[in-house]
Amino acid sequence: MVRCIRVPKVDGNAVRMRLKDQGALDHDHRIRSDGNDLLIPILADSFEDYAVCDAELEHIDHKITDYRLYLPEDVRDILPNSYDNIGDVLVVKLVDELLPLKHEVGDALLRTSSNTRCVLLDGGVKGELRVRDLELIAGVGPSETKHRESGVVMMTDPAKVYYNPRLATERERVASLVKDGETIIDMFAGVAPFPLTICRHAHPKVVYAIDLNHDAVEYAKINAGLNHFDNIVPLEGDAREVIKDLPDADRVIMNLPQIAQDFLPDALSKTKVGGTVHMHKILERAEIEKFCKGLIDDMGKRGLHCEISELKELKTYSPSASVYVIDLKRR
Ligand SMILES: C[S@@+](CC[C@H](N)C(=O)[O-])C[C@H]1O[C@@H](n2cnc3c(N)ncnc32)[C@H](O)[C@@H]1O
Repeated sequence: MVRCIRVPKVDGNAVRMRLKDQGALDHDHRIRSDGNDLLIPILADSFEDYAVCDAELEHIDHKITDYRLYLPEDVRDILPNSYDNIGDVLVVKLVDELLPLKHEVGDALLRTSSNTRCVLLDGGVKGELRVRDLELIAGVGPSETKHRESGVVMMTDPAKVYYNPRLATERERVASLVKDGETIIDMFAGVAPFPLTICRHAHPKVVYAIDLNHDAVEYAKINAGLNHFDNIVPLEGDAREVIKDLPDADRVIMNLPQIAQDFLPDALSKTKVGGTVHMHKILERAEIEKFCKGLIDDMGKRGLHCEISELKELKTYSPSASVYVIDLKRR
């Protein structure tokens, strides 16, 4: 039996707030409805003029949600504040000092993340295909998973293909700019998150999804089917070559932030006058102005005149690098 006060439902919220403010609310038991009244558990003998009674109330099991609390106090300062949830797979980076404790960190993350099946240690993105070096540190494989984002469902495998869940807002922004009937080329599409988000929220004629990574293209095909989009065309190969055979586009997406500018002449050559290229680029704040001016001048010399229509930092893209989105309008 739990000590409660009987409070008319209309007063319930206000009374609960006052109890909370005074530290008299019993957080370990669930408030119960009884006719027109609420039975609110209290820690004091009484509260204001409300009738006191004893009642059976459900016990609330407070789950620890902060994974740090399962780990030794002396390492809590160096534990990561963020990690990536991709479907039921959690991908985390650890500083070197934490590597001897990697399994304990994995177990703590697994205990506190309700939808997580396994935790993978991120050893960094490697090579041309930008694939992560991953190690299972808790839970059970495989690393292949089904991820939901912005109304689309995607199969992906972080051990085989690059996929960045931190770009969801950017994908929605690009989708919001798409006009009916557009032809779109995603030069570095991965498992096709940009094409899928665009097709979910807009009505393009066709979206070509190019990638060099065979596994990514296979997932792009699966994902187009899973979401019932027959206007996504996955294409395997080097974007510079594949793009040559495609029709001119209203929009080209270039999500390869290390070296996207190397492909810009190919992208702009395929962009209709008035069309837009969305380029992502890793840049230091101090070099942005010089980089952009150099880019516009260089393209101008090639007869690929363009202007910047949007320039902003993608704050969520990566915790370790500053990545900018540069939207270029073809003139
Ligand atoms: C940063 S990832 C972007 C993935 C995807 N856009 C996303 O949001 O998850 C870059 C992708 O470009 C692909 N890639 C790298 N060089 C390429 C090239 N020359 N042609 C086509 N794709 C390439 C990689 O395989 C990788 O999937």
